Parts: sequence; structure tokens; C-alpha cells
Amino acid sequence: MFDPDEEIRRIEAAAQAARTGLEIAPGAEPRLGLVLGSGMGAVADGLNLVSGIEYARIPHFPCSTVAGHAGRLVRGTLGGVPVVAMQGRVHGYEGYTPREVVFPVRVLARLGIRQLILTNAAGSLHPDWKPGTLAVIRDHIAGLPNPLTGPNLDELGPRFFDMTEAYAPRLRALARETAAGLGMRIEEGVYYAAPGPSYETPAEIRAFRALGADLVGMSTVPEVIAARHMGLEVLAISLVTNAAAGVTQAAIDHQEVMEIGARAQTQISCWLSALAPALPAMERRSRI
Ligand code: HPA
Repeated sequence: MFDPDEEIRRIEAAAQAARTGLEIAPGAEPRLGLVLGSGMGAVADGLNLVSGIEYARIPHFPCSTVAGHAGRLVRGTLGGVPVVAMQGRVHGYEGYTPREVVFPVRVLARLGIRQLILTNAAGSLHPDWKPGTLAVIRDHIAGLPNPLTGPNLDELGPRFFDMTEAYAPRLRALARETAAGLGMRIEEGVYYAAPGPSYETPAEIRAFRALGADLVGMSTVPEVIAARHMGLEVLAISLVTNAAAGVTQAAIDHQEVMEIGARAQTQISCWLSALAPALPAMERRSRI
């Protein structure tokens, strides 16, 4: 049976190793966290890197098995703002349980972050959102199991909590304004989290469209749920790497998904560097 106290001990042990590895001085904890998705680990190259630690050296930390996910936690500054960033994440389709998938985000919160920016690669359900398009996620539909199933970790957050504004409206507005200031065109939409690892069928995509989805991917939603459980403020950004199945005649190729990701990293990096200093401060919550 899952033991909440044991899970808290694991999170603390991982946070302790990360603090040491990243050389985080007491009182100097980064307030902003980043999760960099498929092929976007190099967005961290836009950081002024201070320190890093491989996931494999952090106890209980899940290690990514997917090509394009570096598996390193790094600390640095982004547009002058101290951040801690995950270069690579893990997914349910790799065989990790939903709880394991959100473990790193819980560690980031334990390290002191109050705001979390997640990036992902996604398929587009709109024919005119071409590969390379960037979109702010407005809301999501979970096609994946909820990572909070099982006994609640009361120390982290409440059993039941609101998801009405899971993707902070003020951060979304700021992200759009910042992008406009840089002359970038940004879309906004609803993200459907599919289980993967196979891409979807055209019939599934038509169904997701009917449900109100604009984007489809295989990540982000579990982490957002865990982040909101802990009261973190969340912003999530999708990079469209392909038209979702059946939206065009083209087949979906993982290699192409990665290549589009690689090309867009500089743009995302620029955007986030301009955005980070503009983020409004958020109070540290005593609970975590
Ligand atoms: N479907 C699911 N996940 C994805 C896709 C897609 O079309 N593109 C990138 N990640």
C-alpha cells in the first residue's frame, strides 16, 4: 500500500540531493521552475547556467528513456531571473506510474519554486496552425490517469482543489503580451493529453476536436495537476511540431517532431528570457 509519509521522505531526499548538486544556498532558492519537453532541452542553453545535476544522481528521480530528453536538472538565470530547469521529463508511456511522472515537479516545489513554466511538443488540430507555431495552453482535457489517485499527500495540498484557472490567466496574458512585443505570433488553445506512445488515429483526433481540443500531446497534464495541488502558478506552452493525425494527409514522424523542436528552441528561449523578468512575484506558501 502506498505510504504518503514515505513519499514525502523520498521527495525531501531528492530535494536535498538536488540542493547540494545545484549548490542552492539557503534563502537563495529559485522561485521559477521550467520543464523542457521533447527536443526542447536546449532551451536551457538560453540560460546563464550556474550548475547542473544528472537525474540519475538524484535519489528516486525517474530517468527519461526517450531520445531528445537529456535528463538533467540545471540551475541558472533566465533574463536575469534565477530558475531551476528540467531538461527532459518522463511520461506514462515509458512505464512510469502517474505518481512517478509528477515526482520531479514535487521536488521542484520542495526546492522553493512558486511558478512553473512547462513546454511540450504537440500535434495541432487546426490545419492553419502549422509546424513551428507556438501556443499558450488555456485549459486541458486529461486523457491520462490522474497522478493524485490514492491517499492524498496532505503536506503538499488538499484532497480536492479547484482547476478552473489551472493555467494562470495573468501569466497567459503576460506570455501573449511578451510574444507580441517580440513580434511573435502566438495561438492559445486547449491541450488534450493522450496516453501514447502511438500517435492518435484520425477518428480519435476528430473526437478530441469535438470535445474542444486544439492541441494533442502525451505530457504536461499530470505535472500541471500536481503543480496546482501544491498551489504553484502555472504557464504551459506548446510547440506545434505536426498536424495531428488526419488533419492533413501527412503521416507523423517522430524524427520530424524532434527537428521542429530543435529549430524552435532559440525562439522559445528568447520568449522565455523576456517573459521571466516580467513575471509578477508570488508569495512562498508555508505548507510545502
Ligand atoms: N500527438 C501526440 N503527441 C504529440 C504529437 C501528436 O500528434 N506531436 C507531438 N507530440
